[in-house]
Amino acid sequence: MTTRVLLLGGTGEARRLAGRLADDPAYEVISSLAGRVAEPALPAGRTRIGGFGGPDGLADWLARERIDAVVDATHPFAAVMTGSAVAAAARTGLPLVVLRRPGWTRDDGDDWRRVPSLEAAAANLPGERVFLTTGRKNLGAFAGDGRRWFLVRSVDPPEPPFPPRMETVLARGPFTVEEELALMRGRSVDVLVTKDSGSAMTAAKLTAARALGIPVVMVDRPPLPAGAAVVTSVDGALGWLAHAG
Ligand SMILES: NC(=O)c1ccc[n+]([C@@H]2O[C@H](COP(=O)([O-])OP(=O)(O)OC[C@H]3O[C@@H](n4cnc5c(N)ncnc54)[C@H](OP(=O)(O)O)[C@@H]3O)[C@@H](O)[C@H]2O)c1
Repeated sequence: MTTRVLLLGGTGEARRLAGRLADDPAYEVISSLAGRVAEPALPAGRTRIGGFGGPDGLADWLARERIDAVVDATHPFAAVMTGSAVAAAARTGLPLVVLRRPGWTRDDGDDWRRVPSLEAAAANLPGERVFLTTGRKNLGAFAGDGRRWFLVRSVDPPEPPFPPRMETVLARGPFTVEEELALMRGRSVDVLVTKDSGSAMTAAKLTAARALGIPVVMVDRPPLPAGAAVVTSVDGALGWLAHAG
């Protein structure tokens, strides 16, 4: 008997977990992507793309596909999807685990200012030339700021609303510390805004900000739904699945 797993993805951890499950005959894995990125890095195994239609649509899909277990390995800020997955799993009685990597931790020499939201970040910017790495759809909070200059980096072009004085760099990580230093120095960036994604793939900007003495406005993660089972690594998710299947 194979265990059919829905793996909600869009992260490096999800791709790594999909690879491990696809190699294991005990599992059939279906990865799910939202379809936000034009040319996504596809995981091993079967992939489906697009929303499910909220918790009800997901619950129907889980039953139709005879899924045995759900792993939510979405990004720590994909809170709507996680809430929907937890609700659908509860409704269908399926086991679910959230794979959530730990957040970043401050190092000696870091000047981090933690804020609860993008709006709070926009209201507390300790600089004039702002490097925004918060995602192409999260620029609305800064759109009313016509005074500061913004550098926005994203995989696909940013979506309006966005600030009037803005330069866009289209790039997909990971980035090296040297690349981040060159970008920040070259644009005379004096403040970095980031969400606390915790990803090693995108941590070089924090090292560069520390080296340049630049403050970092760190947007805290949204809370996880109460009672959700959580693991922090791909191995942790595999261990959980071995017992859930
Ligand atoms: N938020 C970030 O900063 C960030 C960064 C890197 C990667 N990502 C990835 O990008 C995707 C979208 O993130 P988001 O923050 O826009 O999500 P979100 O706001 O939590 O989700 C909004 C809606 O998008 C659909 N959706 C999201 N993730 C999905 C998935 N993996 N498979 C199928 N449908 C999905 C769902 O639609 P229905 O209600 O119709 O099911 C969900 O209700 C996620 O897969 C996430 O892992 C997000």
